[in-house]
Amino acid sequence: LASIRVDVSELAPGDQLTVLWQGKPVFIRWRTETEIEQAREVDVSSLPDPDANNANLQGAQPATDENRTLAMPEGTDIPAGSFLVQMGVCTHLGCVPLGESGDFGGWFCPCHGSHYDTAGRIRSGPAPRNLPIPVAEFVDDVTIQLG
Ligand code: FES
Repeated sequence: LASIRVDVSELAPGDQLTVLWQGKPVFIRWRTETEIEQAREVDVSSLPDPDANNANLQGAQPATDENRTLAMPEGTDIPAGSFLVQMGVCTHLGCVPLGESGDFGGWFCPCHGSHYDTAGRIRSGPAPRNLPIPVAEFVDDVTIQLG
């Protein structure tokens, strides 16, 4: 799979960058402290999709916020869990969800009304799965590699 590198040096907390990778949108979001807190307060056993749906993890893993977010580069002072990288493709029928929208403060898919939380986990509506997390990592302090 072809990989790409994305410069996130211009981002600040609350910003989202959308890049195209393998013909599909990928959302790179620097979450605010409030968004991180909201995501971490959720009882994972209450989630419609209990799987992290994260290609960076082996097998099925619980959909905790920690299992959904990108590991930060070593030595950074940016808080853990700040970066969420996920496919911008609704798991219902593939529309592109809107950011900072919906009943859970994350993403809302206007096609048929799926609500995702600030960790990109499906919370209500017809979508069956959490937004997929692609293979991704920080390769230096300001660069994320996809694939
Ligand atoms: Fe998103 Fe149907 S495609 S809710």
